Amino acid sequence: SMKGALFDLDGVLVDTARYHYRAWKRLAAALGFDFTPEQNEELKGISRRDSLERLLAIGGVSLSENEKLLWLERKNSWYLEYIDTMGPGEVLPGAAEFLGRLKGRGIKIALGSASKNAPRIIQRIGLLSVFDGIIDGTKTSRSKPDPEVFLLGSRAIGVAPRDCIVFEDAAAGVQAGRAAGMRVVGIGSPGILTEADMVVPGLSELVWDR
Ligand code: BG6
Ligand code: MG
Repeated sequence: SMKGALFDLDGVLVDTARYHYRAWKRLAAALGFDFTPEQNEELKGISRRDSLERLLAIGGVSLSENEKLLWLERKNSWYLEYIDTMGPGEVLPGAAEFLGRLKGRGIKIALGSASKNAPRIIQRIGLLSVFDGIIDGTKTSRSKPDPEVFLLGSRAIGVAPRDCIVFEDAAAGVQAGRAAGMRVVGIGSPGILTEADMVVPGLSELVWDR
């Protein structure tokens, strides 16, 4: 039975996925190529560094290590600019209520995010106190689809992987949860999240019993 719930952040609990996309698109434009929402699906859930590598491959651009570091810094400062205008209104529909219901049932809750900005964001949107464990991009060495982030999450809350369920909007994140031996609920489109055990459009569609 499920005793632990592991949540991705960007695109599952808060509407930041579009800000990541906007910043990568801006970077692509600065380097002279276009970047579509379809291409962006590949970057979801992936670390900042790995995302840049994939973006450059898409644009067929090669950069020196120093140039890469500069663009990574720039991308993050644009992203921070976008999220600094963000308020609790950008918590996705049903997310806060769903977390509250799990907590009320004694389910342990962890964050499993690739983002180094995750603690700042969950504090900003008022969800910090919900989590029994927080694994963010500063605590992992391997990007999703590697299971590391969720295995660390399950350890942080003291719940075995087989008793954990993952909530993810990224194909790479769904794969990471599966590779960790966990049940996975995809948030988004069944056509993209093909490996999830079930897919719903958002957390507002879910009741824990089911
Ligand atoms: C993931 C996002 O949650 O975090 C990715 O889905 C993002 O788009 C990654 O690149 C890293 O985030 P950050 O905030 O450390 O750049
Ligand atoms: Mg996500």
